[in-house]
Amino acid sequence: MKEYVTEIIKIDESLIEEGNIDSLKELPALQRAAELLKEGEVVAFPTETVYGLGADATNPEAIKKIYQAKGRPQDNPLIVHIAAFNELDGLVKGSLNPLAERLIKAFWPGPLTIVVDKREIIPDETTAGLDSVAIRMPDHPLTRAIIQLAGVPIAAPSANKSGAPSPTRAEHVFADLQGRIPLILDGGPARVGLESTVVDVRSERVQILRPGGVSREEIREVIGAYLYEPGEEAGSIKKSRTAEKPLSPGMKYRHYSPETPLFIIKDESSLKKLLQSGLPENTALILSDEWASKYGPGLKDIKVIKMGPRERPELIAAGIFQLLRYLDTLSLDRAYIEAIPEKGIGEAIMNRIRKASSRE
Ligand code: TXA
Ligand code: MG
Repeated sequence: MKEYVTEIIKIDESLIEEGNIDSLKELPALQRAAELLKEGEVVAFPTETVYGLGADATNPEAIKKIYQAKGRPQDNPLIVHIAAFNELDGLVKGSLNPLAERLIKAFWPGPLTIVVDKREIIPDETTAGLDSVAIRMPDHPLTRAIIQLAGVPIAAPSANKSGAPSPTRAEHVFADLQGRIPLILDGGPARVGLESTVVDVRSERVQILRPGGVSREEIREVIGAYLYEPGEEAGSIKKSRTAEKPLSPGMKYRHYSPETPLFIIKDESSLKKLLQSGLPENTALILSDEWASKYGPGLKDIKVIKMGPRERPELIAAGIFQLLRYLDTLSLDRAYIEAIPEKGIGEAIMNRIRKASSRE
């Protein structure tokens, strides 16, 4: 693999505003990024969810570099990012499901990714051989400015080493991909902190393949009973899809995993039991602000890490990946993390926490 001297360029955050895309496009840093993308190189940049590692979605050689830099399994397809609604037509085969239109209208630009039938212009490398493609329009002026300047749709997975927690700051990208990519644009911390919600909009009802920045409740508000609810999904998958290709291939891999073994505390009575049993040395408890104030003060020799208020799960979401990375700097033997209610963005948070705690 080619070695790079990885450059990080900080973008003045006061310039990153929705009304300012045209001025952003004038910045030498963005022009450099677009030039690299046009040459078939990879570039890391912020989006509102997490940092992405982008390449020209129509260029198979460029796409291969994404997989190489991340060490990503070849059968895990990428999300294609666009900068404007009218770019969608050129990528989707056939006509768009009216349910998809409603979702796009409600949530784009934003953390919602739709899976549709793909046109030929998107090569197999981008979709890992699937005949569908995942597409989203990010709600971040810098991201859309880069896509516009590059003039092509941009495929971008999260800009972490495969298996590691997703990066929500430029320094996370640098820690994982230093020497493996030429450029990181630093636009400050990602606002949402979790990846987009991926939905399949290829049939008469919509299925959430990966929970994320747009919650199930928000989607339900737009399409009501046209959304498959958890219990309904398994049967419908069996009926409507062939078995040889999983629906969202990426979901089967180890993900978001800190090196420190992580265990979930499922409720308050489990926490009490755990505390009564006496925790071994070199252990951390990752607790909501509420539970940290309630149970933290009595604890000796146990490191308590606060993850944010249970009452405001969006704040937990914004910091969770950073917290998992921080955990690994502490050289602990194990950590326990509190489960939060799976409401709103809580569903996506718990999806990531479960994967982070799985040792498979
Ligand atoms: O917020 C996000 O979605 C971030 C930013 C950078 O946009 N991107 C991101 O990409 O999270 P990545 O590669 O880490 O996750 C993409 C997910 C994987 O679970 C993958 O399997 C799924 O989307 N996916 C991509 N194409 C698909 C397709 N054609 N059918 C089903 N699932 C697909
Ligand atoms: Mg990822």
